[in-house]
Formats: sequence, structure tokens, C-alpha cells
Amino acid sequence: MSNYHIKHLEEYFQVYRKSVRNPEAFWEEIAEEHFVWRKRWDNVLSWDFKKPEIKWFEGAKLNITENCLDRHLPTRGSKTAIIFEPNNPKEEAVHITYRQLHERVCRMANVLLDHGVKKGDRVCIYLPMIPELAVALLACARIGAIHSVVFAGFSSNALSTRINDSDCKMVITSDGSFRGTKAIDLKGIVDKALEDCPGVKNVLVVKRTGTEIHMEKGRDKWLKPLLEDAYADCVAEIMDAEDPLFILYTSGSTGTPKGMVHTTAGYMVYTAYTFKNVFQYTENDIYWCTADIGWITGHSYIVYGPLANGATTVMFEGVPSYPDFGRFWDVVQKHKVTQFYTAPTAIRALAKENLDYVEKYDLSSLKVLGSVGEPINEEAWHWYNNNVGKKNSPIVDTWWQTETGGIMITPIPYVTPTAPTYATLPFIGIQPALMDENANEIKGNQVEGRLCIKFPWPAIARTIWGNHDRYRDTYFSAYEDKYFTGDGALRDAVGYYRITGRVDDVIIVSGHNLGTAPIEDSINEHPAVAESAIVGFTHDVKGNALYGFVILKETGESRDRENLRKEINQQITEHIGPIAKLDKIQFVSGLPKTRSGKIMRRILRKIASNDTSNLGDTSTLLNPEVVQEIMDNAL
Ligand code: PRX
Repeated sequence: MSNYHIKHLEEYFQVYRKSVRNPEAFWEEIAEEHFVWRKRWDNVLSWDFKKPEIKWFEGAKLNITENCLDRHLPTRGSKTAIIFEPNNPKEEAVHITYRQLHERVCRMANVLLDHGVKKGDRVCIYLPMIPELAVALLACARIGAIHSVVFAGFSSNALSTRINDSDCKMVITSDGSFRGTKAIDLKGIVDKALEDCPGVKNVLVVKRTGTEIHMEKGRDKWLKPLLEDAYADCVAEIMDAEDPLFILYTSGSTGTPKGMVHTTAGYMVYTAYTFKNVFQYTENDIYWCTADIGWITGHSYIVYGPLANGATTVMFEGVPSYPDFGRFWDVVQKHKVTQFYTAPTAIRALAKENLDYVEKYDLSSLKVLGSVGEPINEEAWHWYNNNVGKKNSPIVDTWWQTETGGIMITPIPYVTPTAPTYATLPFIGIQPALMDENANEIKGNQVEGRLCIKFPWPAIARTIWGNHDRYRDTYFSAYEDKYFTGDGALRDAVGYYRITGRVDDVIIVSGHNLGTAPIEDSINEHPAVAESAIVGFTHDVKGNALYGFVILKETGESRDRENLRKEINQQITEHIGPIAKLDKIQFVSGLPKTRSGKIMRRILRKIASNDTSNLGDTSTLLNPEVVQEIMDNAL
């Protein structure tokens, strides 16, 4: 029996039991047999959820790029590591072998070194889905710099906040990006962001769209000539197991985005091991995850997990609707994709289109379908299963988070019987708990509660950059000795988990985590706005959409409402990015508040969802009269 590759349900239960009875022995064996280390660890695990402090493989020395690249060279040097599928289907796909990728990473690593980037320095990466993005992550890891990728759909304001929060000294970007028929001026966004980022000394620019851009003298350089001049080999920096590998920002329910810090060894072991099993990856597979590397899914399951297994991973630059709604299936057919991993929101959007878009392609290469980022509703699950998988490819509904680093609750395909809307069973080593209102664990089945994890797993984020107190308060203070996920879940009669959604003020829109507070702050900065509150409501493609309740200042009262709506959304686009735009904006004279001044979002949520049958007792509100007014004018 190989603990590394689980093939039967019996085996899953056996390995699971082993992994929770003696986690140290279990993970030690996985780490020992499947990775290369410069020095072995002194201690497998030490942890304290009170401090909180978690250390895996302490004392070990390694470089993750030696595991993702160098060790494959003797056996897989000419194997394709990355298939780059460009936005425009007429542009040829590019196959990058492990040897070529190794060389490209080394060259870029040398360019970073030449520009004074050292171990521990932070480098911000703001790039579209082109090979240089993966190369940039690995180049940072090669020299021990900490990468902080910012999704290239974020605005200049969101970018500068993230650059400053972690004091990045360099930005790697491109002239522009292609998305469908559009070319986006990325460098312009970076230029604007850097007006507020005095710490950034160098900007390296990849040429992609060929658009005319401003190059700031002494700061900005084209990357290509530097890469050509750079030496093609670069000695890997030897890292401690617990040295930070990257920072990735995620929204919180309040305040600034949280820079989740992931460290080296545990993250590597866990993403590689989950990748192998959750996708039942075998040597000649062609794996495609449609996420952007700007999100955790791309970090763990486009770059690190697949490459650590010597896999071929597809990077797609475009969008599912260009040149038409058959693009995903065209790419699956063209590259004979075996595992396909996407988000429910994409499935729902494609399910609305004509079936011909799917049926005209040969999808027989597919073996495993994945879903991530938000709950997948029953209808979307069946559409995916019937039309894409032809009922032959199990769907893995994978639940996890930026903070967890890797997949946590999931079926293992061909092992765990799947069921629509269920993420099914905890992955190996994961010990979930459901908690009630009194902070007691709810045992047994057919129960529902708040989802916590009782024991550390190797890829858990270790802190929030620059704010360890916030890390403790957000994740470890609600329930003693447990990591709190922020999600609700139910456990059915057979022990399967279904994630029921966020229980805090984070709203998942099209699979993107959005905190209400930063959006409200952005709206409130509009000169005509006095106050606002955002809630989510069900949307048939995006899962959730945003509904804003806005109180105008006296000066705003005379303004045209439609124009104001446009301006508010424009403001959100500039402050955060287009993903945070509101679908509905209702102008109100007041917001329902408790006597202590807290907005009663529960009531607003019900109104936004057009479900006002049971609003509960509103008489104790500070201003019960506004509820009727808001209901009468609901959109
Ligand atoms: O609410 C859960 C939802 O997405 C949140 C995490 O978002 P993020 O950190 O951006 O990471 C997304 C990709 C891993 C979770 O707290 N979520 C993620 N996957 C699922 C899900 N909800 C239901 N089912 C899932 N499979």
C-alpha cells in the first residue's frame, strides 16, 4: 500500500485513520519518501493554537524549486511542464519543458539578484496569465525572496495597498494583458499605484500586448534583454522549512486585506500530496486548472502542486467566452486535458449557453472534473456531470481557503462516491469539527454548525504579514484550540460535509472573496454618500451578487439616481476592482440599526433576497420605521 497514492475507499479510511492517530509519523513518511531535502528536519511538528504558533519540519533545509524543477531534470527534462494557451486561439500554444522552465527560472532569478533582491525581500508580481508569471514565482522562490502576487484585475489603489503592506521593493508586471477582445493597460495601473509606493525601487516589465507605455527612468526596465543577458543557471538558496515562501492577500470581513503568509516545507508537502490524490494524477496526464495564479488556487494547483509532481500543467491566458462559449472545451480537446479544475461560476455561465458549444468537442480525454471557490449548486453540478464529464468523470467539489494553502474537504475521484453539493469527506490528515453557538463541538451526524479544524495540517498559513494579533483574533479566538474557517457546514447521515457558506461578512461573488467593509468604505468616500451597507443576494451565475443600501447626504439628494449608481460603481472599480461592483443600489433614508449602532445586516439580507416573510422582531431597533420604507422600495 502506498500512502502517497490512495486508490480505494478502504485505503482512504485506513490512511486517514493513520494520519489522525499519529500525524507526525504520517507526514514524516510522506515528506521523507517524496521530496528532496538539503537537510532533514529535527522535529516534524510543534504547535500551539493559543499563541498561535505552528511549525512543520523544523530544522529542515530545502529549496522548493529543487523539488519542482531540478529533481525532474534527469528523468523529465524534455517533458512539458507548462502548456501556455494564449488568449487568442490563433496564437500558437507554447510547450515549455522542465529543462526550459528550469533555465527560465534561473535566468529570472539571476536578474532579481542583479537588482539587489535578497532572501527575505518581498517582490510584488502583477502579471497576466502568461508563462512569466509562473517563472516569476519560482524565480523568487529560487533565491528565497517572498513573492506577493496581486491578481491583475485589482485596481491601482488595491495594488498600492498590498505593495505597501508588505514593503515590496520590486514589482514585476507587463505592458498590458489580453482578456477576450480587450487589451488592458496593466503598466498604467502600476504607474498610478507606484505614486503611493516609495519603497519600490525597480519595475521589471514583460512585453505582452506591445502597447505604448511609459517607462520611468531609473526605475522601469524591459525584462527580455535582461533575461537574455542573464546566466542560465542559478544556485538555489537553501531555505529553512519555516521560511516564508509567499504572501497572498485575502479579504477580511473588516479592515485592510490580510497578507496570509505561507512557509516553505509544509506548504510544499501538502500541495503536492493533495494534488496527487485529489486529481488522481498519473505521469502522462495533462492537467488544467482555469484559475488565475493571482489566487491561491493558482499558486497551489497550477504552479507548486503540479510541478512538485513533475506534471504537465496548462496555463490559460483567456476567458471562457472568447472567441465563443466553447473555448474551454476547445482547449480540452486540443491539449487532451485529463483533469479539469474550474469554478462553479464559470460552469453556471456556460450552462446558460447553447449545448452545441460543449457537444461539438471531443472531451473523451477527461478523467476528473474539479470545482472550487464557492458552493456548487445541484443544477450546475448535474450540467457539469452530464455534459462535460458525460457521467464518466467524477466531480471533486474541493473545499479550502487561501489560509489553508491546500484542499481540505474533498472527494478523492474513483475512491469517494460523490454527491452533488457535498465536498464529502475530510482529506487525509484533516480533522474538522462543527461547533454550536455555545462554542461546543457538535458530535455525531446529521448536524450543522460552524466549521473548524482541530489539528494543524502542513499547509496552514502561519501568520498575517505584520499582524500576528489579527491572525490570532481572526482564526483562533472564536473557539478554543481550533482554527475557525468562517464557513458554516453540515454533516449528513453518512458523515459527508456540505459547505453552507460564509457566516461572517465576507461575500463570495463569482468565487472571489469580498469583504463588505472595504466596499462600504469605498462607497462612503463618494461626496454624495453619507453611509452604506452591502449584503449578498443569490445570483444565478455569480452565486452571490452585491446589493448596496446607500444613504445620501443632503447635497446628493437632488442628484440623478442613475448617474449616482454609475459613479458609485466607478468608484468601487477604482478602489478595489471591477469584481466588487454592485448589481443593485437602493437609496434609503436610513439603515436598520441596533441600539448600540450596529447595522442589522440580517434584515438587509432578507430584503435583498426578497424574503421578507420572517424578519424577526424589529421593534427593538433604534429606527424600526426604516425597515418598511426599505422594503417598499426594494429593487
Ligand atoms: O466560503 C468558502 C468558499 O471560499 C472561501 C475561501 O475563499 P478563498 O480564500 O478565496 O479561496 C478560494 C479557493 C480555495 C471559503 O471559506 N469555498 C471555497 N471552496 C468551496 C467553498 N465553498 C463551498 N464549496 C467549496 N468547494
